[in-house]
Amino acid sequence: MGKILIKGATVITMESHDSVIPDGEIAIEGQRIVSVGPAGSAPEGFAPEKTLDAAEMLALPGFVNCHTHAAMTILRSYADDLPLMRWLKEKIWPLEARLEEDDIYWATMLCCLEMIRSGTTAFADMYFHMDRVAEAVEKAGVRADLSRGMIGVGPEAEAALEYSREFAARWHGRAGGRITVRLGPHAPYTCPPEYLKKVVDLAGELNVGIHIHLAETLSEIEEINKKYGMSPIRLADSVGLFELPVLAAHCVHVDGADMEIMARKKVGVAHNPESNMKLASGVAPVTAMLKAGVTVGLGTDGAASNNNLDMLEEMRSAALLQKVTNMDPLALPSFEALRMATAGGAGALGMDGEIGLLRPGCKADIILMETRRPHLFPRHDWLAHIVYAAQSSDVHTVIVDGRIVMEGRRVLTIDEEEVFHEVQARAERLVGRK
Ligand code: NI
Repeated sequence: MGKILIKGATVITMESHDSVIPDGEIAIEGQRIVSVGPAGSAPEGFAPEKTLDAAEMLALPGFVNCHTHAAMTILRSYADDLPLMRWLKEKIWPLEARLEEDDIYWATMLCCLEMIRSGTTAFADMYFHMDRVAEAVEKAGVRADLSRGMIGVGPEAEAALEYSREFAARWHGRAGGRITVRLGPHAPYTCPPEYLKKVVDLAGELNVGIHIHLAETLSEIEEINKKYGMSPIRLADSVGLFELPVLAAHCVHVDGADMEIMARKKVGVAHNPESNMKLASGVAPVTAMLKAGVTVGLGTDGAASNNNLDMLEEMRSAALLQKVTNMDPLALPSFEALRMATAGGAGALGMDGEIGLLRPGCKADIILMETRRPHLFPRHDWLAHIVYAAQSSDVHTVIVDGRIVMEGRRVLTIDEEEVFHEVQARAERLVGRK
């Protein structure tokens, strides 16, 4: 890691919808961006060890995937087109019970590989055997916010709290700050209020945030209302969850009062449109949430319910879904959709001003996308191109934390063939074909 200069790019800073710099230049020193501007704007005397010629390329902040279960790549396209509970009980849970620690490592490597290739530089993850996830993230060179998923009933409940305490001690702030840790109570229907209160106490003690699934399906809303006489959002608020930084996945079924709480308590939402469509959970009121002042980022959810981790595709789905649901072509315009995938996601992760923008002082998480491609001509509007026309295979070079992890489509941190081989063999063992 040293000094890198990106030259000749069309720079999309994401500061505002018109912050597009033609023939732009970005100077990077160590982990951070030191300057962003037109050609010749790098600080005087800036002597790069590496210069990236980015003519005919777009430079933009790396995508932030706010909600996934990385190792579920090993279950990709194993079970599809089933109702949620049958999908979980008959297919997903029995296989998850057979996952070994090394499976988690290799499946997370596959996730990181897919993310790097599609321009994602940071993600928020919730799963188990999280030490192996952290090892994969460290090796792959990406940025991640990691939570051990906790189920608040049964013998595992206390063990999950203890594991999370130790996991935070081992990994929070590690890998040069690329890895952060949260507590991951799975959802209000798997974590009763008394347990959520324990989680709140522990998160306060460890000074970490919380990652939880909230208000995903109508059956969750009914169940929580029946048991506690309030919505999942109000339940979470009543146990003190929102006094801490919270990343809430889904929030599909929320009303005006819920949104008011979420805005006031600065809850970060991870919107997962493709998972919500595929599992037929519903359409999150993203336009209304943004209007109410809620911070909304974008996520893919696990690869078993998507089935890829492609943030460009997710962005397009988010925009199109809001338009057709609101019967309003003005809903979620291109800048807003791209913001959710970058700066909005950074905000949802409590990293505003650190990532998600191309701005001096921010961490250098930057992607270069090739534009000399048939689907990106003619050049009228770059933001529309990115959201409505670009493909993840346009991603050419990826920088995370000031380090080049993919250059000219060659991933430098991961042995791709080894990952394919390991994951395929392990998946076959899991389903009993070997
Ligand atoms: Ni999820």
